[in-house]
Amino acid sequence: MNRPTMAKSLAELIEHRFSRRRFLRNTLLTGAAASATVACSPLAGKSAQEVSQASFKFDEIEHGFGAEMHVANGHKADVLIRWGDPLRPGLPVFNPENMDADEQEVRFGYNNDYVGYLPLSADEGQQRGLLCVNHEYALPKLMFADGVADSGERLQQQVAIEQAAVGNSIVEVRLNNGRWHYVHDSPYNRRINARSTSITFSGPAAGHDRLKTRYDNTGRQVIGTLMNCAGGMTPWGTYLTCEENFDSVFGGELAPDHPEQQNYQRLGIGGKASRWSQTDSRFDLAHNPNEANRFGWVVEIDPQDPHSTPVKRTALGRFQHEGAETMVRADGRLVVYMGDDNGFEYIYKFVSRDVVDRNNASANKNLLDYGTLYVARLEASGALHWAALQFGIGPLTSENGFYSQADVVLEARRAADLLQATPMDRPEDIVPDERSGKVYVMLSNNIRREETDAANPRANNRFGHIVELIEDEQGGAARWEMLIRAGNPDIAAHQADFNRHTTSNGWFTCPDNGVVDPLGRLWVSTDQGLSVSRETGTNDGLWAMYTTGEKRGLSRMFFRCPDGAEVTGPMFTPDATSLFIAIQHPGEPDSEQVDPYHHPLNRWPDFNTAMPPRPAIVVVRRTNGDVIA
Ligand code: FEO
Ligand code: CA
Ligand code: CA
Repeated sequence: MNRPTMAKSLAELIEHRFSRRRFLRNTLLTGAAASATVACSPLAGKSAQEVSQASFKFDEIEHGFGAEMHVANGHKADVLIRWGDPLRPGLPVFNPENMDADEQEVRFGYNNDYVGYLPLSADEGQQRGLLCVNHEYALPKLMFADGVADSGERLQQQVAIEQAAVGNSIVEVRLNNGRWHYVHDSPYNRRINARSTSITFSGPAAGHDRLKTRYDNTGRQVIGTLMNCAGGMTPWGTYLTCEENFDSVFGGELAPDHPEQQNYQRLGIGGKASRWSQTDSRFDLAHNPNEANRFGWVVEIDPQDPHSTPVKRTALGRFQHEGAETMVRADGRLVVYMGDDNGFEYIYKFVSRDVVDRNNASANKNLLDYGTLYVARLEASGALHWAALQFGIGPLTSENGFYSQADVVLEARRAADLLQATPMDRPEDIVPDERSGKVYVMLSNNIRREETDAANPRANNRFGHIVELIEDEQGGAARWEMLIRAGNPDIAAHQADFNRHTTSNGWFTCPDNGVVDPLGRLWVSTDQGLSVSRETGTNDGLWAMYTTGEKRGLSRMFFRCPDGAEVTGPMFTPDATSLFIAIQHPGEPDSEQVDPYHHPLNRWPDFNTAMPPRPAIVVVRRTNGDVIA
């Protein structure tokens, strides 16, 4: 392991983030900023004006279905790594019919979601980096050839494999002769899982009684992270991974008079059966009631040190965390934007107390432990207010059951209720653009909505929308605007609203993940679910989206995924010539399908009758190696 090489590369990464920030400042202050450049080729040397006017040049692809993926002309999409691929030398060929949990712990996990990319210094001319991948959840019906066990020793074995298959992968990737491959024997490769990885707590809830269990009487240590949906990368090169639907693994009942009753009800924990709780008493609320307080956090991982201990940063609050994308403010403080993905939940941000140290990554080690957590109110006037979740201020006092900041972060949702935050239509990814200071909020849907408001304007919102937040760093008024209302603009009942030049392939529904590429362009990926996709006539995909000028609200379809799947984790390399896309739950048939393992919708990406469909990371490049799209 070559630490000096890593340190150099990290310095480059930090320089890149700050260059983008300076670039923004120059653009805003001078309007022209002809000399401002970003740090990496082939964008380097382009003026701010050139980049701010960057547009999409590709020919749009069509809505549709099919077992293959489709990408715009002049680009190619290759599979990079699949569920079960080895992350260590000497492993046998992957055979899902003969796998145990120990082996799954050293193979790429299931249902990849967020993808982060951390550049490393080139080696022998090869561009290289670390992929940081979330494995959101296991799908037993497509993982186990002998069917989904519901009791006995086989259930125990399957749950152990599921616990090993979720969490995260860190994987070294290299670009050689225009083609990416992953390095199966890289010393950086690592699996973090829900079965054996030791993780610590930091921040206001660390060590609190409510985090203590019969397995950990310190309240500072936990095994594993799970249901890791989206995430983010920090400017100092660490990886943030978010625990979303953690309620789903807990089962059993709390005692009726248990002090966590109100807390767990607000998060939908308990009162339902769980595979994990049947076989692992750690997840049985009757046996181990506080365990569910140890999930629902944002976890920080140092991908450059495979022996580092991940940390659950409790200052960022506990809820169904979707993502945690970061932006450095003009004053040098870090802002982390976070959605709580459920109907009528909220938009949060965390602002660090201290400034990011651009020269010394380790100086930022505890940056995420000190700062203020806020929740958003989106007023009908267009004003955006952030209310602080601070113990002792306003309603967050002992009168309402909050006795310290630990209680506030543990029950962030209940604290936000009291602060009259705006209930949104499922806040998913929230992506800031460091150049413009604008922030894009993906709201995927909310069929339970009856009463509408300005920021959630449709009842029975099946198709979702995207809201833009415009922050004012000088302390002035922040505001919000609607970017698009998703749905088919040709069907009046959808009440969709895209730019009028959007084509019949350009509209989409159910925005879930987003990314702002190195040219400042927004990309949106979707998660419709089977029934909406039957109605829209297309599989999920990735759309390029204009956000400024006459084309604001115009989107164009760039990539379409195979049947059964959704598109997650879009992430660009800093030079914008490579785009990593995660294909989640490919080939998944509807719930009526008998024996889905042997009768999937398709067997993407191997199309081998001996192999079920496998979630995988795909990398898109221009055939000529130039900037994408
Ligand atoms: Fe895991 Fe919010 O999608
Ligand atoms: Ca998501
Ligand atoms: Ca999703």
